[in-house]
Amino acid sequence: MTDQTKNSASSQATKERVVIFDTTLRDGEQSPGATMTHAEKLEIAGLLDEMGVDIIEAGFPIASEGDFRAVSEIAANSKNAVICGLARANIKDIDRCWEAVKGAAQPRIHTFIGTSPLHRAIPNLDMDQMADRIHETVTHARNLCDNVQWSPMDATRTEWDYLCRTVEIAIKAGASTINIPDTVGYTAPVESADLIRRLIETVPGADEVVFATHCHNDLGMATANALAAVAGGARQIECTINGLGERAGNTALEEVVMALKVRGDIMPYATGIDTTKIMNISRRVATVSGFPVQFNKAIVGKNAFAHESGIHQDGMLKNAETFEIMRPSDVGLAETNIVMGKHSGRAALRSKLHDLGYDLADNQLNDVFVRFKELADRKKEVYDEDLIALVNVGIDGEGDRLQIKHLRVICGTEGPQQATLTMAIDGVEQTTEATGDGPVDATFNAVRNLFPHDARLQLYQVHAVTEGTDAQATVSVRMEEAGRIVTGQSADTDTVVASAKAYVHALNNLLIRREKSGGDTPEVNYKDLT
Ligand code: KIV
Ligand code: ZN
Repeated sequence: MTDQTKNSASSQATKERVVIFDTTLRDGEQSPGATMTHAEKLEIAGLLDEMGVDIIEAGFPIASEGDFRAVSEIAANSKNAVICGLARANIKDIDRCWEAVKGAAQPRIHTFIGTSPLHRAIPNLDMDQMADRIHETVTHARNLCDNVQWSPMDATRTEWDYLCRTVEIAIKAGASTINIPDTVGYTAPVESADLIRRLIETVPGADEVVFATHCHNDLGMATANALAAVAGGARQIECTINGLGERAGNTALEEVVMALKVRGDIMPYATGIDTTKIMNISRRVATVSGFPVQFNKAIVGKNAFAHESGIHQDGMLKNAETFEIMRPSDVGLAETNIVMGKHSGRAALRSKLHDLGYDLADNQLNDVFVRFKELADRKKEVYDEDLIALVNVGIDGEGDRLQIKHLRVICGTEGPQQATLTMAIDGVEQTTEATGDGPVDATFNAVRNLFPHDARLQLYQVHAVTEGTDAQATVSVRMEEAGRIVTGQSADTDTVVASAKAYVHALNNLLIRREKSGGDTPEVNYKDLT
C-alpha cells in the first residue's frame, strides 16, 4: 500500500461525517442560461440521490409553476436524500414550499432573509422588524415541518452582533440547520473558519444545531472557504456539480468531496458520496445546463488527468503517483480508451458504455446504437469522448415542434455563404434559402426565415470532442427572449450541422417555455423575488 492509500484507508473509520447539500437544481439552475427542462431536473435529482448526496435542494417552489412541479416530483421520487425547497421569509413562500416538499420521505424547508445592511434596505426593515420577521417565519416553517434550515443571506457582510442575534432567534424558533452564506464570495479561508467557530462559541443553543457553509466563488476561494468553514465547525457543505451557479458559481461538489477524500490526513471528515459517479453527473450537468466544463477545471476538466509533457509522461509510466494524487477511476474515469469502430456490435457498445458509467435502458441503447453506427460510418475510430457526446447530446426529440430535415451549405473564400434549409414546423415541411457572413450565420438566417422570432443569441460555443480533423464538434447555444433564457446543444462531425441542430434545440426549448408560462409573459425570476 502507498502512503496515500494507507492514509485514506486507516482514517476512514475514525472520520467525522460532513453532510453534502447539493443546490445544483436551485442555486445552480438560477444562473442565467442554466435553465433545465422538467425531465432534466428529475434526471439530475436521481443521479444526485444515487451518488449519495445527503440533501438535495430541488428548487424554489414559489418562483414558477415549473419549479413547484419539479420540486414536488423530485420529493415524491426521492429514495435516500432529504429533499429541500427554498422559501423567502414570508408565509406565502413557506406554505408553497411545504406543499412542494411534503411528499418526500424526508422533507426540509429552507427559508432565508438578507441580514446585511445592504440587504436589509431592500424590504426596508429595520433590525428589530427583521428580527420579528425571522422569529415569525421560522416558527411558521417549524410548525409545518420538523426539518427547517435558516440562512442569513450575505452573512459574511452582516454586522457581527446582529448576525449572532438573528442566528439565536432562528435557533430558538426551531431551525435545526443554520446556514452561513457567503453570498457574494467576499470572505477568505481564515475569516470563514473563524466566523463559524465564533458563532458556535457565542450563540446560545448553537451546539444543538448543524452549521452549514454556502460559498460563492467570486474571488475563486469557494472551495477553500467551505473547507475552512468545516475546520471551524461547519458540518454541512452547500455546493453544486461543476461549481454551477450565479456569476462565478458556487463551491464545486467534486472539489470539496475529493479534497476531503485525498487529504483525509489533515481533514478527517467523511462524506457519503460515491466518488466514482462524479464524472458521469458532471457531464450530464454540463450538457443539460449548457455550461461546458473548462478544460483545466479541477477533478472534472478534460485535462485534469491528462499528461502532456515528456517528463510527466515518463514519470506516469514508471509510477502513476508521481503526477497523480488520485486515480482517474476514483472519479469514474475509465482508464483505457479502447477505440470502437463500425464493426462493433450492440453488446460491445453496451459494455463500453457501462465502463464509462452509463447503464442505459434498452430503448436508449437502441437510439445511441443507431447514432453510433451513423457516426462510425463517417469517422474511422470512435473514442470514449465521441460515445459520451452521443449519449449526452443531439437526441432529436420525436415530438419536437421544429425539426431539421435537410441542410446544404455553400461556403468558401468567395462569399456570401449560402444555406438551403428544409425544416418541419409542427409537421409541415418548408424550404428556404439564406445568405450570411459565414456558413453558420447563413444557416441561422435560414432558420430565422422559416421560424421568425425575436430571441437574442447570447452565446454560441463550439468544442472539438477529440483530436483530428474528423472530430465531432459539440455546439452550445444560449438565447434570450423577454427574460426567458434557454440553451440548446448538439454534436456532429459537421460543425455547421451541429450548430443548426443546437440552434433548433434551443428554439424548441423556448417553445416549451412559452407554453409553460402561458404565452408571452416571462416566468417569475428569482432575482425579482429577493
Ligand atoms: O447565496 C445565498 O445567499 C443563497 C441563499 C438563498 C442561501 O443562495
Ligand atoms: Zn447562493
